[in-house]
Amino acid sequence: MGVLCVPQGRKPHHLFIGFVVHIVCFCSEKMECCYSPVGLFARPSTFALLNPQGKSSSHSCGTSNILQTKVLTFHSKKFFQLTKREGKIYHERIPSFVSSTPSKWTVFAESGRQAWDFGRFFKTLYFFNGPPNPFKFVAYVIEKLSSATSPESSKEMKTSGVILVTGATGGVGRRVVNILQKKGIPVRVLVRNEEKGRSMLGQDVDLVVGDVTKMNTLSPEYFIGVKKVINTLSVIVGPKEGDTPDRSKYSQGIKFFEPEIKGDSPEKVEFIGMQNLIKAVKDNIGLREGKLLFGIKGNLSGKLLWGALDDVVMGGVSESTFVVDPTGSEDGGPSGIFKGVVSTTNSGGFTSIRTKNFPVPEDLSAYDGLELRVKGDGHRYKLILRTSADWDTVGYTASFDTVDGQWQTIQIPFSSLKPVFRARTVIDAVPFDPRTIISLQLMYSKFEYDGKLNPNFIEGAFQLPFSRIRAYIKEPITPRFVHVSSAGVTRPDRPGLDLSKQPPAVRLNKELNFILTYKLKGEDLIRESGIPYSIIRPCALTEEPAGADVIFDQGDNITGKISREEVARICIAALESPYACDKTFEVKSTIPFSETFTVDPENPPPEKDYDEYFRTLKAGITGKESLEPRPVLA
Ligand SMILES: NC(=O)c1ccc[n+]([C@@H]2O[C@H](COP(=O)([O-])OP(=O)(O)OC[C@H]3O[C@@H](n4cnc5c(N)ncnc54)[C@H](OP(=O)(O)O)[C@@H]3O)[C@@H](O)[C@H]2O)c1
Repeated sequence: MGVLCVPQGRKPHHLFIGFVVHIVCFCSEKMECCYSPVGLFARPSTFALLNPQGKSSSHSCGTSNILQTKVLTFHSKKFFQLTKREGKIYHERIPSFVSSTPSKWTVFAESGRQAWDFGRFFKTLYFFNGPPNPFKFVAYVIEKLSSATSPESSKEMKTSGVILVTGATGGVGRRVVNILQKKGIPVRVLVRNEEKGRSMLGQDVDLVVGDVTKMNTLSPEYFIGVKKVINTLSVIVGPKEGDTPDRSKYSQGIKFFEPEIKGDSPEKVEFIGMQNLIKAVKDNIGLREGKLLFGIKGNLSGKLLWGALDDVVMGGVSESTFVVDPTGSEDGGPSGIFKGVVSTTNSGGFTSIRTKNFPVPEDLSAYDGLELRVKGDGHRYKLILRTSADWDTVGYTASFDTVDGQWQTIQIPFSSLKPVFRARTVIDAVPFDPRTIISLQLMYSKFEYDGKLNPNFIEGAFQLPFSRIRAYIKEPITPRFVHVSSAGVTRPDRPGLDLSKQPPAVRLNKELNFILTYKLKGEDLIRESGIPYSIIRPCALTEEPAGADVIFDQGDNITGKISREEVARICIAALESPYACDKTFEVKSTIPFSETFTVDPENPPPEKDYDEYFRTLKAGITGKESLEPRPVLA
């Protein structure tokens, strides 16, 4: 830091006091509404604390001004941070260093103004920023003075909706990639062999190299930006004789080869591989139930460390707190309560609770927004999300209205968040990036945005119980993980089945190291994962073109054949169809094995509307029903 200039019209001790406040404010992070050091040096005549609601406080509540006209005295109000542990309310006292018994300072008011609670101000800073650290302050000043651009402006937004195709060098996989590329949809492929992948799918293909049987080859960065997965990979089954390295059997029509497993076992690929793949992509593609950030649902419990952040930071006297009511939610479970008394005295008018910065940013890019379950009191509140660890930074904000006395579900789409800084819209702010959420804030304020007032603001006591905050996927939910499995997976163990009429894989399940048994176990992993899925079970795959009439069925009973091209199209259509979501189904064409299906390339049949087929599907049917013991009738 260079020379400290004494602002015009100020005495050196004012600057010293200002400096002390700076140290407090910027001890570890930067405090909203306190002096900005840049402002201090750039605008020497202005010491006013900036009101986070977009106004400069009229009485210039900067410490130097306050101290010119006000007297410091003791104040005996206690300050508690309330947290719940094991179903009880605990009062977590701020460390004795800032504890207020006997009290910290209160700044007595001039006539017409109310006393300002410096102790509470100090404790707010302490809660969010930790103990004063002059070194961090100095480092902050140097960083601010030396950086030409703000951290926000240098951040880049990457929100691509990439579809990951696994097994992309396989018969179905390469066709899926091809169709997606033709449609201009961003696609990434996971292959075991880069050279093979590029020669087959194009040198420029977005490609990552990994083997699903080895978790350490599935690097987290492979999945950044991935929103959906089409999984066509499979244990390799080949003829004992007669195939070539480029798998020429594909072009040999319908022939029966004596099959064997090539390479990794079905257990490794179909079961352990599926476990690994699900683990690798889960956070990126999201769960049907969403991600719980606060509250308790089933065996999930989200905890956030909230602290009050009121207009005391700019001289006001409003006061709020966060408490846990162990039985406050609708179902008798715990709820948090944001409550307090808001006052417009001293040009104030807002209260809020804000979480401490998350130790690791939350990546909610799989989701469409945040959902709050609140018990309304008729007021309008704000939800603010921050994507920077800096204290005094843009908050991505949305307002929501509540109905007095009613439990309500409030959904706030990420797309509705406005970049706001001290209640002013920041037109050139970087777009909201759901991958890097650092803190949440709930606010009750007199102020809306850009000088407008909150139409549902009433001075005085307020209370907002809330039992849940979760990231949600918007309805209608479509599959995020489309998996190509196989018809017959439930048949090897099915009682009373005539195996002679079954396809080779069913008959030879044992000889093929229980290939179908492990394919079924792999399917079960997806069904149980919580990821919105679609499981397609084709009958025997052929190299015929797409276009024949098809039959969709459920319960794992049909036999027949279907073209790989048709299956690839079904995979892509399933991604967009809510009717395909959380369904397991078999598919075949109406063409018998004895006939070869061809199309006139000059006059190909129109693409099907697969939704017509998806609509017929029912949830919960897998074919496993017939494996389950039937009730014995008396
Ligand atoms: N063939 C049939 O008649 C029939 C009938 C019903 C269902 N199905 C099923 O339909 C699906 C698609 O069949 P398909 O003929 O397209 O399959 P495929 O040609 O045999 O392709 C399998 C793909 O999986 C990849 N793979 C294998 N192990 C892997 C691993 N450990 N990590 C990453 N990738 C791996 C292979 O990569 P490499 O190129 O590196 O080997 C290949 O790209 C499969 O699940 C299959 O079982 C087939």
